[in-house]
Amino acid sequence: MRFDLATKPFKVQAVAQLLGTTVDSVRRMVDEAGIEVSRQESGPKTRLFSVENIFDLAHHRSSKRGGKARSKKQVIATVYAPKGGVGKTTLASNLACRFALRGVKVLIIDLDFQSNLTLSFGYDSELTQEEALEAGVSPDKTVEAHFGNLIPGWPYGRRTLGEVVKKPFGDAGPHIVPSDLTLDRLDTMLTYEVLEGKNADLTIAKLLKDGQAGKDQHFDTRDYDIILFDAAPAKNRMTRGALLASDYVISPVSMEKFSTKALSYLSSVLTEMQDQFNRSPELVIVGNFFDPNRVRVMGQLMTITQTYQDAWLDRTIRRSEDFPKALNGETDVPLVLFKPSSASANELRDVADALLVRMGVIDG
Ligand SMILES: Nc1ncnc2c1ncn2[C@@H]1O[C@H](COP(=O)(O)OP(=O)(O)OP(=O)(O)O)[C@@H](O)[C@H]1O
Ligand SMILES: [Mg+2]
Repeated sequence: MRFDLATKPFKVQAVAQLLGTTVDSVRRMVDEAGIEVSRQESGPKTRLFSVENIFDLAHHRSSKRGGKARSKKQVIATVYAPKGGVGKTTLASNLACRFALRGVKVLIIDLDFQSNLTLSFGYDSELTQEEALEAGVSPDKTVEAHFGNLIPGWPYGRRTLGEVVKKPFGDAGPHIVPSDLTLDRLDTMLTYEVLEGKNADLTIAKLLKDGQAGKDQHFDTRDYDIILFDAAPAKNRMTRGALLASDYVISPVSMEKFSTKALSYLSSVLTEMQDQFNRSPELVIVGNFFDPNRVRVMGQLMTITQTYQDAWLDRTIRRSEDFPKALNGETDVPLVLFKPSSASANELRDVADALLVRMGVIDG
């Protein structure tokens, strides 16, 4: 059975580290916010924080500070690279967690029918509700609906965001629109729309815009500061639609391989979007699998920073065994939460914080 991420207990020191504060102020905030924290049953009755407790504290802290970015415009971003296995999902899941720890309200949408993001938050996209019951797994851990169900005119029954969204770490943690294999139908639907002469490229953009404005009862996203898509490497219509709906495209590049070709493809897609629709997301490049000691990597870095000077984020993530060595061995979990003291978690935090500033979600 899958390890339940949400129930992993944290001691007060770990909580302080996750929130970037002291043990004393964590204790103070717990009392102030009236958050119920359980205690160890035997021994010194140490406080054991759930992940949900931690996000509640993060939320409490940010609302105390005046709810930070609430007055600013909602940001929409897609994590995308036209290349497989470069760290899109890893980056997306960690960003979502880090953003929420900063008190930012996050909705993350799994736009890949392979559902790695969904898995990384502890949901099993292949399990039916009946199988879950039989296996003693909570039916909430299964996936019954996905982003397709939120699209107006969805032929298999439209649902509301509230019905589709999952909250693995409670209300104050990141909210997730999960996916499963049938998300592929959305691509088919958009292709049909094109054949019927409709402008399906903008279907997702329109949905998001109406959501921001509170004009769609099924999809009201006014509560979120940021909406993140985790896109598949495929150059399909869903990805295209998400890009056209986005203010930013966050693109991890694997510095291990030659990656300039993928980047130049992506940048040509963006230019073409700009020509055709008079809009395209701003590109932000994040170097992953980075190794400053390798000559070839540094050579690539030179080429990329020269060609995409403005897009390059000056924070990188090194290759580390922490990533594949995830907690339950079955799926990669967000390291910023579950291995907060690792070097990789530190790098991910820096990347996330730099992105928040870059995208104007918080002030620098
Ligand atoms: N910096 C890193 N060091 C080591 N392993 C990493 C690093 N970043 C990601 N990985 C590992 O690489 C694998 C692929 O990562 P991930 O699934 O995030 O890529 P992706 O771009 O989303 O893939 P896909 O194109 O299939 O959607 C995962 O096993 C992940 O743990
Ligand atoms: Mg992925």
